Amino acid sequence: MNKIVINTDTGKHKIDRHIYGHFSEHLGRCIYDGYWVGEESPIPNKRGIRKDIVKALKKAKTPNLRWPGGCFADEYHWKDGIGPREERPTMINTHWGGVTENNHFGTHEFLDLCEQIGCEPYICGNVGSGTVQEMSQWVEYVNFDGVSPMADLRRKNGRDKPWNVTFWGIGNESWGCGGNMRPEYYADLVRRYGCYCRSYPNQKLYRIACGPNAADYEWTNVLMRQAGGNIDALTLHYYCVSGKESRSATKFKESDWFAQLQRALVMDELLVKHGAIMDRHDPEKRVALIVDEWGTWHHVEPGTNPGFLYMQNSLRDALVAALNLDMFNRHCERVRMCNIAQTVNVLQAMILTEGEKMLLTPTYHVFEMYAVHQDATLLPMDIETEQYKFGDESIPAVSGSASLDSAGKVHITLSNTNPKKAVEVSIDVRGSKVAKVSGRVLTAPKMTAHNTFTKADAVKPEKFTGTRRRGNTLSVKMPSKSVVVLELS
Ligand code: AHR
Repeated sequence: MNKIVINTDTGKHKIDRHIYGHFSEHLGRCIYDGYWVGEESPIPNKRGIRKDIVKALKKAKTPNLRWPGGCFADEYHWKDGIGPREERPTMINTHWGGVTENNHFGTHEFLDLCEQIGCEPYICGNVGSGTVQEMSQWVEYVNFDGVSPMADLRRKNGRDKPWNVTFWGIGNESWGCGGNMRPEYYADLVRRYGCYCRSYPNQKLYRIACGPNAADYEWTNVLMRQAGGNIDALTLHYYCVSGKESRSATKFKESDWFAQLQRALVMDELLVKHGAIMDRHDPEKRVALIVDEWGTWHHVEPGTNPGFLYMQNSLRDALVAALNLDMFNRHCERVRMCNIAQTVNVLQAMILTEGEKMLLTPTYHVFEMYAVHQDATLLPMDIETEQYKFGDESIPAVSGSASLDSAGKVHITLSNTNPKKAVEVSIDVRGSKVAKVSGRVLTAPKMTAHNTFTKADAVKPEKFTGTRRRGNTLSVKMPSKSVVVLELS
């Protein structure tokens, strides 16, 4: 029997809405032929930005968007992306397919996109091939309200008031594509760049340093020791790269399902260990841990450009998303922002497009279902679960998290990782009276189920009727391979 105990009156920490953030890079069809279709496109758009994508991201309460990369960020020169579009210089996107970037989507277009979605921008600056002056001027262009060379240039380009962007990343993957640096060297650069990226009177900057690649604990230690006092957050990147028997996003067996979920659960160990190192340097937990690239990485769809990272997204990816979001919630004391890679047409996307068609992936539905946790108080939750065994190995069958929102509603999210067996969970809710329970479930007959342009609703949330309530005890029957969200009032 699987048992969960939730205490509704002892929550201490807020689940920051920014945990539900996104990442969108100039990569493949994420920006061009994704968000950006241009003002002349027959596809309905507002100032060149697709309306259907904006509507979907608003519905999922997207809280922030990280841009322009990724590896692209460290070769991006922001001044090439402002002013009249036809006069903007081109560049080669060397990381992603060697295609020509025309710079038609730049600072103004990105910040317009964020305003249309109603989310906060998170801009990643160029440390790898840029200069301190260049990044410092970008902050001035975006945030300074007075008279200055950059603020005047912004006005000349049609924007009077500053955008007041809070979140600024100081380089991306500086240990790899962002410059192959050593942590000692990069830590000094963080101090220097952080110093010249000014907080103007109207906007206190939140300086985000590039953190470790997965289990590189030495990087975290050096960064916290040498630059911990100069930053507000340190990032972590961890991808679940698929493949044991198959790397296909939609053609895989149970061995691949199991391996992928097992990989996803490694995130917990990374958060615990990096968190412990950060605690040594910063016991007050002032510096946040931000997982600003995470998600699944499969083979690209057959026939597509390998450099574009365009992949399908199945129920398996939805389970990976749910497991991760529950882990982030549970670690919300230190983890205050996360950005899944990437929003549109790239890696573990929320949205896929084909011409004027658009579909929502199973991962999108998880984000939309989990939005109830945003800015709610994390509730302590004890889980006693059976194991889902595959061969000689096993992972927990049931995983989840719970929160209390400002209206007094409790939300519980749960996953059943077992693709062959339904599970029954008994939930004991303590600390408040439960009068009513409702819920939604995401599942499908096959673990490879996914949405296509001809069948866009193959995987979508349905009303969940598997809960029985007796007083404050709930008995929940979860179908195999499912994600459930419950609302208690
Ligand atoms: O998300 C794709 C790439 O993965 C990013 O550009 C890079 O930061 C990471 O290696």
